[in-house]
Amino acid sequence: MMRILNFGSLNLDFTYTVPHFVRPGETLAAEKLEVFAGGKGLNQSTALCRAGAEVFHAGCVGPDGGGLLEQLRQDGADLRFVRTLPGVRTGHTIIQVDGAGQNCILVCGGANRRADAAMAQEVLDAFGPGDWLLLQNEISGLDSILRLAGEKGLHIAFNPSPISPEIRRLPLETVELFLVNEVEGAALGGSGSPEECLEGLRRRFPGARLVLTLGTDGAFYFDGTRTLFQPAFSVQAVDSTAAGDTFTGYFLAALGEGLDGGDALRLAAAAAAISVTRMGASPSIPTRAETEAFLQSRQKEI
Ligand code: RIB
Repeated sequence: MMRILNFGSLNLDFTYTVPHFVRPGETLAAEKLEVFAGGKGLNQSTALCRAGAEVFHAGCVGPDGGGLLEQLRQDGADLRFVRTLPGVRTGHTIIQVDGAGQNCILVCGGANRRADAAMAQEVLDAFGPGDWLLLQNEISGLDSILRLAGEKGLHIAFNPSPISPEIRRLPLETVELFLVNEVEGAALGGSGSPEECLEGLRRRFPGARLVLTLGTDGAFYFDGTRTLFQPAFSVQAVDSTAAGDTFTGYFLAALGEGLDGGDALRLAAAAAAISVTRMGASPSIPTRAETEAFLQSRQKEI
């Protein structure tokens, strides 16, 4: 089984159920507050672990981040590369979830912004050719991490989420697998139809494999030769937080197991569909057994 190093964020998600997203100048009463383990990094490590992959998580928390680490530990992630930094707050978010299950997220990086070149060197010293590195865009130090991983010959998967202008300046030429949604895809590959976006990404990153997720409109995978499409499974949405992270973790775990692109897409789409039927970020991510059972129950849709 391949080893996956996920160098990524860990957040406490303060999740407010609201009748609608707060408007400028408005004071709105929340219906409920729940605090969940989240962060795109933590969520993707959780999804990888629950899918059955061997996962090393690297990142930073403050002294208030112990609960996040405990959750990752219970899922089986190796945490030897996570630092608990004194005097820094763990990253956190304020998430509003409305009645349609849509969210909007305010993120405060905290300890996630403390990763640097020295930490990248120390962590990547333990990895080499044959290992995979998974990254998102919620930590500092990405430039150093990408350069070192490229030099060491790791396979690199990048989910450029949340998208930001700085991403264009990163050394992305050694990325083997991009996983983007329509917003990230448009920023990196150009807007237009999904096919046009994929074509733009292929021109910009020749040789890379590409996943383009489109929410309820399904997902595309360009495997270097063929482009495959997987429709989304229809479910009753409660909270879409971490659906993309669930897809990413399951998809990479499935490729690592040797599943073909079509089967990896189906597994990832099923896991993501289950996640939107549940509240919260990492708690919404299904186990492999739940995902396989869901696929069995939806035979006719696949
Ligand atoms: O992708 C969902 C995640 O984005 C949340 O868990 C939140 O922490 C933000 O990072």
